[in-house]
Amino acid sequence: MTPSVLLVDDEKSFRLILESALAAEGYDVRTAADVRSGRAAWKQAPADLVILDRNLPDGDGVQLLQELKVEATERNLDTTFLVVTAYADVDNAVMALTHGADDYVTKPVQLPDLLVKLRKGLERRALERQVQALRRGAPDVASLLRRTRSPKMQRVIEMAERVAQSPETPVLVQGESGSGKDLLARFIHACTPTRAESAFVELNCAAISEQLAESELFGHERGAFTDAKVAKRGLLELADGGTIFLDEIADLGPSVQGKLLRVLETMRFRRVGGTQDRAVDVRVISATHRDLSAAVASKQFRLDLYHRLDVFHLQVPPLRERQEDLLGLATLFMEQTARRLGRGVERISKDAADALVAYDFPGNVRELRNVIERAVILETSSELTTRSIVLGGRAPGGEDESAFLRVELGDDGEPPSLREVEAAYVTKVLEHAGWNKTRAAKILGVTFPTIQKKIQDYGLG
Ligand SMILES: Nc1ncnc2c1ncn2[C@@H]1O[C@H](COP(=O)(O)OP(=O)(O)OP(=O)(O)O)[C@@H](O)[C@H]1O
Ligand SMILES: [Mg+2]
Repeated sequence: MTPSVLLVDDEKSFRLILESALAAEGYDVRTAADVRSGRAAWKQAPADLVILDRNLPDGDGVQLLQELKVEATERNLDTTFLVVTAYADVDNAVMALTHGADDYVTKPVQLPDLLVKLRKGLERRALERQVQALRRGAPDVASLLRRTRSPKMQRVIEMAERVAQSPETPVLVQGESGSGKDLLARFIHACTPTRAESAFVELNCAAISEQLAESELFGHERGAFTDAKVAKRGLLELADGGTIFLDEIADLGPSVQGKLLRVLETMRFRRVGGTQDRAVDVRVISATHRDLSAAVASKQFRLDLYHRLDVFHLQVPPLRERQEDLLGLATLFMEQTARRLGRGVERISKDAADALVAYDFPGNVRELRNVIERAVILETSSELTTRSIVLGGRAPGGEDESAFLRVELGDDGEPPSLREVEAAYVTKVLEHAGWNKTRAAKILGVTFPTIQKKIQDYGLG
């Protein structure tokens, strides 16, 4: 895509020179002479790079910078801002950077210097996207999944690696809740050579209304509906070059189903309220724990869309059909949790391992992870035993520790307030941690100052 530049400067000759120089470098350039028209130009379409003069006839360029920066952040745009200052002094440089500029140039502007800074800005964007992709755990996902010893799962991984080499092919992932569909989708993205460094964008179709799903997916133009004060890019645009993951696809409403079908057929779409067709290059991975062909049979899901999504089918086996992986995963989760919480739990006892193997894990890997995390929290020795491992809400060891906090109705028969429950829970965790605030904070997943504040607010201890 051609990178776009918005240049806001009141000096006409400067605008003309720069406009033609940048256009010659392959930038798509728009210019504005003051704050008001700069703002209007941005509203019409944001830019990848914004160059702003400090002194504008109707205001301060730095104020406009801050305004645009807030909007860019809200709208997930990683725009680079450059400020033009009158002279190269420390004050000006510090001023520009503390107000959110990525860099600054001084007048008279040296074109080579400016071009380098623009290019650096674009590289930073690309780099940030890569870092984001890495933070999402892309390489971890690959090594996690490749560790499997289950022949069934190995076959699924092999198929996933094969489809990764075919970057346009839509993939449908089916499997029980908590079995690892999400993880498999990220794995495919991470293994797709042409896409791995672009975004992996996720939409949970079950969590939102049909109208919202539509504007999230396709974006909207300004004024498309009452709340649409500014135009917004949709997830499809954000996923351009990468992967869009449509989770719980069976729950997608009928009108969005039709629009999605069009995207798959033409790789084009329109923002809500828009008239312009936009091209995208994405791989669509969809997932569901439901039987999609049954949803088609009962007319809840379009047959044509089903065929378009289910070009390549992957079935993630439930955990109970991957016994080979059970104890390996349990150990992994134990080690991770113990490290995170600073606990000395090192082993799983023979009895506890037998209990895990005998249990059928309706909630699959997610349930196993939760069971182990809670066991590590409860365990006081260095070994996880049947006392701490609670399966299916029951304590197989007899003693019922499954309810860490029991919520009881007050004397007036009313349930307690959130504040009361929180105070009781924090107390309980503090007691469990022997009033070690650092440990309690870790268990609760909050910072040390937060727990201190809670102790003070609720008058605990
Ligand atoms: N092979 C694995 N190794 C390590 N962790 C795993 C593995 N498979 C799944 N998990 C973990 O189990 C949890 C559930 O996995 P995931 O979210 O991928 O399941 P899902 O099938 O998408 O579930 P749902 O149907 O609820 O959306 C996650 O925390 C994930 O990291
Ligand atoms: Mg999921």
